[in-house]
Amino acid sequence: MAPEWETHAAWWQEHFTAGADPEYEEQILPLADAHLAGFRRVLDLGCGEGQLARRVAALGAEVIGVDGSWAQIRAARDRAGGPAYLRGAATALPVATGAVDAVMACLVLEHVDPFEPAIDEIARVLAPGGCFVLFLNHPLLQAPGSGWIDDHILEEQYWRLGPYLPDDVSVEEVAPGVHLPFVHRPLSRYVNVLADRGLLVEHMDEPAPAPGFIARAPEYAHAAAIPRLLVLRTRKQA
Ligand SMILES: C[S@@+](CC[C@H](N)C(=O)[O-])C[C@H]1O[C@@H](n2cnc3c(N)ncnc32)[C@H](O)[C@@H]1O
Repeated sequence: MAPEWETHAAWWQEHFTAGADPEYEEQILPLADAHLAGFRRVLDLGCGEGQLARRVAALGAEVIGVDGSWAQIRAARDRAGGPAYLRGAATALPVATGAVDAVMACLVLEHVDPFEPAIDEIARVLAPGGCFVLFLNHPLLQAPGSGWIDDHILEEQYWRLGPYLPDDVSVEEVAPGVHLPFVHRPLSRYVNVLADRGLLVEHMDEPAPAPGFIARAPEYAHAAAIPRLLVLRTRKQA
């Protein structure tokens, strides 16, 4: 795992958890409710400080959270709320074959390179008929270099798409002094690698940006029809 996540776990926790981030509060956590309700044994891969794991545990599931960062695992254990937490890598999940009915990974695979071994592991730990729910920064509309353009010379406003097809690994300064590596891959790579492991897409969400996010990001007032998030729910073939 990239060592940056150990260094910046506290930054993540302060700005994106415990009610601090409208995209989680208004969108991601309710989507986790919708997609994970009814599963008995759930693995949260790259669980961070556990906000999705706690949410799904509150629905009645037995949840295991796995994260590569000790700083995240320590915070998750302190925040408690039902799940068990283990430190582990996406590429070597500390869970037996076929042990869970559902796996979720929220904003994690953008940091895992290569990601194919992680998908192998997810397919291994899922019982036949189980679901993998993948939350991603929308790979098409949020490709590197994408963003709102307000061209005062040509008097045009539009959403620019950055290079979509090539894989890209970039270190982004997401806040002053916080540098994190991000991996971009086209959506077909995700869908085809999942399908090769018997994980077929049965549902996809591309929600409009959350109102609380638009209130904080004025450029999105114009780009409210451009999704930031993509959710794929896949089912392992029996
Ligand atoms: C953006 S945070 C998301 C945390 C959590 N899923 C959430 O949505 O609140 C990404 C998390 O992925 C974890 N992570 C990154 N690469 C990993 C890897 N190879 N194995 C396990 N965890 C990893 C990081 O430590 C970090 O906690």
